[in-house]
Amino acid sequence: MNLILMGAPGAGKGTQSAKISEKWNIPAVSTGDMLRAAVKEGTALGLEAKSYMDSGNLVPDAVVIGIIKDYLSSDKCANGFILDGFPRSIPQAEALDAMGVKIDVVLSIEVEDEKIVERMSGRRICSACGASYHIAYIPPKTENVCDACGASLYIRDDDVAETVLKRLANYHEITEPLKDYYAAKGILACVKGMEKVEDTTAGVMKALSKFEA
Ligand code: AP5
Repeated sequence: MNLILMGAPGAGKGTQSAKISEKWNIPAVSTGDMLRAAVKEGTALGLEAKSYMDSGNLVPDAVVIGIIKDYLSSDKCANGFILDGFPRSIPQAEALDAMGVKIDVVLSIEVEDEKIVERMSGRRICSACGASYHIAYIPPKTENVCDACGASLYIRDDDVAETVLKRLANYHEITEPLKDYYAAKGILACVKGMEKVEDTTAGVMKALSKFEA
């Protein structure tokens, strides 16, 4: 199964892609995680991406398309993949088509803007393994400590309120039109993401059930 997971920043793409990855045993490919890793390593790509990310803007299409092309052609994706956060613009979707990649389903997790701001302000990420928490909804057992590996948690640079609003505006303007793009291909499914994580997961799994063997 080749899947695209769409949704506003903080809609729960990373949270749900981890669950799908575990159930279907296919890799979750997050362009955001790849870019953050490049920033952390201080590579040329990271240096170029950082200013866009910190200001809540999208990294240029050509940069992101290059990363994804390399990844999708690797053996890791031979049995399918989950694209989390790509494509994020019409040119990116057209580039994916031009690569000859067949997409089975595009899942859009739908969350209202007010809820997004609340979720981002409470998000905490593990500095070692990348596990994601929320101080109110998905708290770690010990404050600021990752349940999985014991490392400390941090707040993403782009989770400050002003940047979140910019990311949301960019989502509505540049990314949301992809819903029409994929609806026209007959592969768009929308799932409600406003309630608890388990409720969203149930909706996601229901939408994907037709792909089960
Ligand atoms: P990226 O890392 O992809 O960020 P994003 O799309 O803004 O999405 P997030 O990772 O912030 O949120 P999410 O939807 O995964 O939600 P999560 O599960 O964490 O991209 C970052 C930046 O990189 C972009 O701004 C851009 O600059 C650049 N970039 C990346 N891809 C690009 C591309 N293709 N083109 C150009 N630039 C690109 O959940 C959020 C929080 O809510 C967590 O705390 C979680 O625990 C909690 N939560 C989740 N679900 C629920 C629920 N149901 N109830 C309560 N809490 C919940």
